[in-house]
Amino acid sequence: MASIVVGVSGGVAAFKAPIVVRECQRAGHDVYVAATHASLEFVGRSTWEGITSRPVAVDIAGEGRAEHVELARVADLIIIVPATANTLARLAGGFADDMVSLTVLASRAPVVVAPAMHSNMWLAPATQANVATLRERGVHVIDPESGALGSGDSGIGRLPAPEEIARRALAILGGSEPAAVRTSLAGKTVVVTAGGTREPIDPVRFLGNKSSGRQGLAIAAAAARAGARVRVIAANIDDSVMAFLPSSVEVTRVGSAQQMREATLAQVRGADALVMTAAVADFRPEATQASKMKKDPTTSDAPTLRLVRNPDILSEIGHGPHRPPLVVGFAAETGTDEEILAYGADKAARKGADYIALNRVGAGVGFGDVPNDIRLLDAAGHIVGRYTGSKDEVAAGLIDQVAAFLDNLER
Ligand code: CTP
Repeated sequence: MASIVVGVSGGVAAFKAPIVVRECQRAGHDVYVAATHASLEFVGRSTWEGITSRPVAVDIAGEGRAEHVELARVADLIIIVPATANTLARLAGGFADDMVSLTVLASRAPVVVAPAMHSNMWLAPATQANVATLRERGVHVIDPESGALGSGDSGIGRLPAPEEIARRALAILGGSEPAAVRTSLAGKTVVVTAGGTREPIDPVRFLGNKSSGRQGLAIAAAAARAGARVRVIAANIDDSVMAFLPSSVEVTRVGSAQQMREATLAQVRGADALVMTAAVADFRPEATQASKMKKDPTTSDAPTLRLVRNPDILSEIGHGPHRPPLVVGFAAETGTDEEILAYGADKAARKGADYIALNRVGAGVGFGDVPNDIRLLDAAGHIVGRYTGSKDEVAAGLIDQVAAFLDNLER
């Protein structure tokens, strides 16, 4: 276990830094955060303190004086993410007027910087000269990528996926990598549906479900780590959860089951595997009211909501002409082990899926950010895999099985 200092400077990409911290922790390391004052505008003290269970180092005056020396002393590795143009300039110039630059100056640990900024700032001769200076001094620079920037423009300057930053930084330590996928999906396309659909009742109300989308996104990320081209169809997933996806993943956002059907039918063309983790509503209101439904003050009567069946997307694809070679469904079931295994096998057969990933839900298991216990069943009811632990661990196990299945087809 190493002690890692994550230095955060004040750019829009700072919201990805907590994921770098988490990945380092997951690899078994002890993480300290040093933040510039400007960065606290983007990610506040309480977030850092919540994630690391220790104070975030910000102030260099007063008590902070001793703190920086301590941080610099304990650090086995310093990762600066994001590194703004300003912070790069401070590091190159040897400044020590904020906790991040000061810790770097006072430490002998290897330093990794992950710059993120507007293209013009990145390409500015001053920034390029600063980066060249840092490289000459042995600082590891993780180059920014091209893509959409926080400013709304697009171009070079975007922070790479935080998982990628953590992996490359930890490689310097020779540390262990997060939840490794053993097999390769290079050259394969995997479509993952995730989240929960919302069926509109009126402009402000919907019928929804508790799916956070975390398990689906963990599977998408694991597939991307295994080298697949990954397309995600995301239904109503919070931005903070979406931020966990590697930037290479193609995302289509949808709201209702019907939108999910259209997007999935389009994306699954030519794909090698479909993993349907999304919680798709089986029913939707027969009609969506154009304006907000009001109470009738003259009566205590309540309206009756008439529901109609939604299309079953998994079944349509599983039995349809564009079925990918591998189709995996998910089912969250309550009941005894025996009951849920029977439901699972029946679902796989009925829906034309090769596998159903069975997730037993009930008090304290399944939904939200809690450990999972997933059994992968084939249509004959055989358990082909069982994955327990964090959603990332489950995802890595499942993706191993996906790769093994596709490998087998080619033999
Ligand atoms: N699913 C789907 N379209 C629907 C409903 C479900 O594609 N309209 C998919 C889900 O994404 C999941 C799988 O089917 O992969 C199983 O979902 P589940 O809701 O358990 O299946 P149902 O057939 O609705 O079974 P139940 O009667 O138990 O609700």
